[in-house]
Amino acid sequence: MTRKILITSALPYANGPIHLGHLVEYIQTDIWARFQKMRGHECWYVCADDAHGTPIMLRARQEGIEPEELIERVAKEHQADFAGFSVGFDNYHSTHSEENRHYSELIYCNNRDAGHIAKRMITQAYDPVENMFLPDRFIKGTCPKCGAEDQYGDNCEVCGASYSPSELKNPHSAVSGAKPIDKESDHYFFKLANFEEMLKKWTRAGHLQKEMANKLDEWFESGLQEWDISRDAPYFGFEIPDHPGKYFYVWLDAPIGYLASFRNLCDKTDGLEFENYWNTDSDAEVYHFIGKDIVYFHCLFFPAMLDGAGFRKPTAVFAHGFLTVDGQKMSKSRGTFIKASTYLEHLNPEYLRYYFAAKLGAGVDDIDLNLEDFAQRVNSDLVGKFVNIASRFAGFINKRFDGKLAAELNDMALFDSFSNAGDSIAAAYEGREYSRAVREIMALADKANQYVDEQKPWIVAKEEGKDEELHQICSMGINLFRLLAIYLKPILPKTVEAAEEFLKVEALTWEDAASPLLDHDISKFKALMTRVESKQIEAMVEGSKEDLAPSAKQVKQEKPATDMEAIAPTIEFDDFAKLDLRIARIAKAEHVEGADKLLQLTLDLGGETRNVFAGIKSAYDPSDLEGKLTVMVANLAPRKMRFGLSEGMVLAAGPGGDELYILNPDEGAKPGMRVK
Ligand code: 2FM
Ligand code: ZN
Repeated sequence: MTRKILITSALPYANGPIHLGHLVEYIQTDIWARFQKMRGHECWYVCADDAHGTPIMLRARQEGIEPEELIERVAKEHQADFAGFSVGFDNYHSTHSEENRHYSELIYCNNRDAGHIAKRMITQAYDPVENMFLPDRFIKGTCPKCGAEDQYGDNCEVCGASYSPSELKNPHSAVSGAKPIDKESDHYFFKLANFEEMLKKWTRAGHLQKEMANKLDEWFESGLQEWDISRDAPYFGFEIPDHPGKYFYVWLDAPIGYLASFRNLCDKTDGLEFENYWNTDSDAEVYHFIGKDIVYFHCLFFPAMLDGAGFRKPTAVFAHGFLTVDGQKMSKSRGTFIKASTYLEHLNPEYLRYYFAAKLGAGVDDIDLNLEDFAQRVNSDLVGKFVNIASRFAGFINKRFDGKLAAELNDMALFDSFSNAGDSIAAAYEGREYSRAVREIMALADKANQYVDEQKPWIVAKEEGKDEELHQICSMGINLFRLLAIYLKPILPKTVEAAEEFLKVEALTWEDAASPLLDHDISKFKALMTRVESKQIEAMVEGSKEDLAPSAKQVKQEKPATDMEAIAPTIEFDDFAKLDLRIARIAKAEHVEGADKLLQLTLDLGGETRNVFAGIKSAYDPSDLEGKLTVMVANLAPRKMRFGLSEGMVLAAGPGGDELYILNPDEGAKPGMRVK
């Protein structure tokens, strides 16, 4: 039976580059879409840029351009990156499009007319200089719990506390530096609780992974809150019908972007009808692949809005985990925050597709890209086992048999065992158990190599009168290679395209695995893939560190004067003299179990040692710190933290995250010296 399938990946924000973390999802989805197409189903894979919201508006302003110009540029970059990794969207659109305006308005109006929208006045932080309301992320100040400075309005990166922006001490706008004031305005809310019964049923009806359904239960238990779907001008987005100056919140129109991109595809494709996929009586399947951090939007708000507006709901939402590199969060300073474009400068994208596939299951576990394991695995599996099979037989077929495969095979049982394995491999792909698919395919590759080792074509080739036997052995080997190529095709589209050229066959489909290739001309063998060299990986990591050192022009663009923190009020010298700043040697730096942001530092003050918890984990690896000299506040009152007593503070500059820079004294300074 031919299924009708629509697949989406989450829409990337149009203000930043695609990196390897994003690619977990796009590669996972693309493999699934390619697999469904190979099975002969009608399958469409669509995506778009997520182009609206305050960060994009402000980013464009920083660059001195219109948001439209920014999103157009970024869309091109994104699409080049996706093409580089063979992510084969059938359509790539933008949420800033007429189709998306149409469906956002329609879905909103239908919900409004059905009584699912409420209006309420709320009070929010407002930047009186920029004349704009400030999202929590754009308010900074001192953490009300631990006193750490320069923390975001919603949570502290040092002690991990969550709070509301009104609790921050010394709050200031990250846009202008001004102190925010409270201001009232009307907002529009989506009454999620109206859908509670429907959602409870839907989340338990097999549309979600178990872990996700459990998570949703927790949210049901704590009660479904009304969802604020409006934002005040200035905002980059769609104005709400009949409410001038009010805009749809970016997260309202983002998932509707899936419908918009598909609509745009339908308008370009003969015979493809939007309604057949999105009406409530549709027999098509709709799947959304997403990260586990955006489950609330996709499994509660989105299905409820669709339901309220008379559209069908997704067949399933598939969440995945995050990517770590060498066991840690991706980090710019370590060079493991790797952009798609940087990877492509150094390595074959098929390596990464294979490695991710080998690690991906159907659950939401994080996956780790271990760079050493990556090289080892690609070299041993793909180069050593898969590609090698073709190279071990192709020469004989070309030189001794005029490039033609034998008219029959001598060991049909072996061929059949490979062919029959296809069902289980297909089931693994279908269930997104790619790691199992890879294991089963590699077990077949081992068998194929074992066949070569047993048949020893290089010896048979030297024996008189054994031409026919040699021909059979080599034809068998090429056929086994062909079956492996079919099974690996969703993961390795480019390599298998080259294999198709070598085999002189049309694009391989899953069905082709049923019968052997006989009495058929093949081409000369060209190496299909080369080994990963460790120097390529080193160069990529180095290149990613270089991405950290932007050109002077970029610095200017990214750090406009308005983003500089306002200079604090003037103090007297006596105030300054109260600070006892000392040179300290970092004798030891360690991770703190259970702490996301902190490193534990043992500081040597030249005779005395201090234990300090510093919120610099996002920017430093402990091993990079040990032995370094830095500056500490030595007379700060000790603070009891969850992990122990912190006896002082090291000084660092920068906005936070990867951009934190601890201070280093000039050469000659010694531990214990006072800084004045
Ligand atoms: O989290 C994100 O990166 C969002 N841009 C994902 C949007 S997915 C969909 F809802 F559009
Ligand atoms: Zn704090």
